[in-house]
Amino acid sequence: MISLKNKQRGSALFTLLSGIVIIATVLFLLIKLANSGYTSTVAETTESATETRIMPSGSLKMGDGTEPGQRTGKQVFDKICLQCHAADASVAHAPKVTKNDDWAPRIAKGFNVLIDHAINGFKDKGTMPPKGGAADLTDDEVARAVAYMANQSGGNFTEPPVKGDNAAASEAAAPADNATSPAPAAAGSGSDQAKAHFESKCVACHAANSAIPFAPKLGNKADWEPRIKQGKEILFKHAIEGFTNPKGGMMPAKGGFTDLSDDEVKAIVVYMANQAGAKF
Ligand code: HEC
Ligand code: HEC
Repeated sequence: MISLKNKQRGSALFTLLSGIVIIATVLFLLIKLANSGYTSTVAETTESATETRIMPSGSLKMGDGTEPGQRTGKQVFDKICLQCHAADASVAHAPKVTKNDDWAPRIAKGFNVLIDHAINGFKDKGTMPPKGGAADLTDDEVARAVAYMANQSGGNFTEPPVKGDNAAASEAAAPADNATSPAPAAAGSGSDQAKAHFESKCVACHAANSAIPFAPKLGNKADWEPRIKQGKEILFKHAIEGFTNPKGGMMPAKGGFTDLSDDEVKAIVVYMANQAGAKF
């Protein structure tokens, strides 16, 4: 009994002492702050201070010093997507990284559909929130995270490059790559590039003399007329995301060449359609 009382008294004393130490520490820090000159800079930093205060509450702070827009798929995954997509996450219906069975039907939708769903959100049996709830991720950052997850789970997508550290390397290694990205707008060299892509990739099914059923053949106006009527945006979408007609004709996403950028595919579509009389 006595020892219990002593114990109680002892722990009360400990609490009291800890309290005093904390108060003393706070006072010490306050005095230090007051003398540090820090407060005098408050006026200068008001703008950023205000921005911080009015920042949306869901706003993501990576806290890793990485420039916004420059985070790799791994960085984004480790910070955000992992909450629901980690291999051992317990969120129902979220496809888990490294679980190829979870991912196979998702990967089959094509990279662009997955990116779209990850950016804008997606509801099926579960709910994928837009950008996983981290509204300040750029679209490219989300796309990188999608590639990062899918590629560990049986996929083979190309993570959009992070500028900064890749720019120098890829400029040196592959200048042509950079030059082609704004393709559809650029005529001249852009359409040469599109022609070359057509001849190395799409020709297998779309050559003028190809035997693939349903595939509209190069230069064949009868094949292309009803397609062109759909408008170029539909053609772009079908060429990028793939398209199966009710009779069973199947255009694979990007003709199966997922390494082509969307703009490159669009340029090829423009080339193909214009060979058959369109004026895209
Ligand atoms: C709060 C939980 C949560 C977070 C955080 C989250 N996801 Fe998801 N995600 C889900 C769920 C649940 C699904 C499954 C939805 C369904 O198909 O029912 C999903 C599905 C997906 C899909 C498949 C979409 C499809 O069409 O099949 C992709 C791709 C994806 N998430 C990417 C991401 C990326 C990238 C991030 C990080 C930026 C992220 N997710 C963060 C819950 C989350
Ligand atoms: C494996 C064969 C195959 C390859 C390779 C292929 N396509 Fe196709 N493509 C098809 C078939 C089949 C159709 C017709 C689908 C249908 O019945 O509407 C089609 C249709 C299209 C259409 C018309 C879509 C519509 O809405 O009418 C476009 C545009 C197109 N392909 C672009 C391309 C481009 C660009 C490439 C190269 C990057 C390519 N295709 C490579 C088989 C292929």
